[in-house]
Amino acid sequence: MELEKILNKRRSIRKFKNKEVSKEAVLDIIKAGIKAPTAGNLQPWRFIYTFDEKKINLAVNSTYPGNKRNSEDNQDWIREAPVLILACIDYSDTVAKYGEHGKNAAVQDVSAAIENMVLKTVDLGLSTCWISGFREKELKAVFDVPSDVEVLAFLPIGYNGGYNPNPSKKALKSLVFKDSYGKKA
Ligand SMILES: Cc1cc2nc3c(=O)[nH]c(=O)nc-3n(C[C@H](O)[C@H](O)[C@H](O)COP(=O)(O)O)c2cc1C
Repeated sequence: MELEKILNKRRSIRKFKNKEVSKEAVLDIIKAGIKAPTAGNLQPWRFIYTFDEKKINLAVNSTYPGNKRNSEDNQDWIREAPVLILACIDYSDTVAKYGEHGKNAAVQDVSAAIENMVLKTVDLGLSTCWISGFREKELKAVFDVPSDVEVLAFLPIGYNGGYNPNPSKKALKSLVFKDSYGKKA
């Protein structure tokens, strides 16, 4: 699929069909992730995928809706997802090379990888939604993630179950400046 088509088609999908996703597709999505640019080519990304319903439910128990971090409610729609991919950051190489400041680069690296994965998902006819509304400590416990590794986000992936959102987007002219910040293009 052409990039422009994929960019236009991509939406955060929050309803999935009861249909399996192949392991091959999951690995293709991760392979797209690791093609992202990365500061110093240090590749701080680490990925965990799971098809395990029990683990998916435990992961969802760590999520919360909106900004209600301490809510007992979860993003329950994610329970329908047949597979999750977690995107983690191992800061060790980046901090060794760039110091504490390098952490910022590692976050950018893994974010770039996540976006590649999101776009690959669409390319494969699948759907996803970038999720960062979770209590990280709880999520890490489900997947035995070491304390010095961060889970930045996860992607629930499945076939679109008939959810077609059309979120409003700010006008380009309110976002783009020419020559100086605030100077209209
Ligand atoms: C860093 C980040 C965190 C997000 N976390 C969540 C989340 O926890 N739950 C959710 O439903 N959507 C989440 N989203 C998806 C956004 O809500 C979505 O991208 C936004 O509403 C725009 O819609 P669109 O992706 O369809 O263009 C997140 C997106 C990003 C980039």
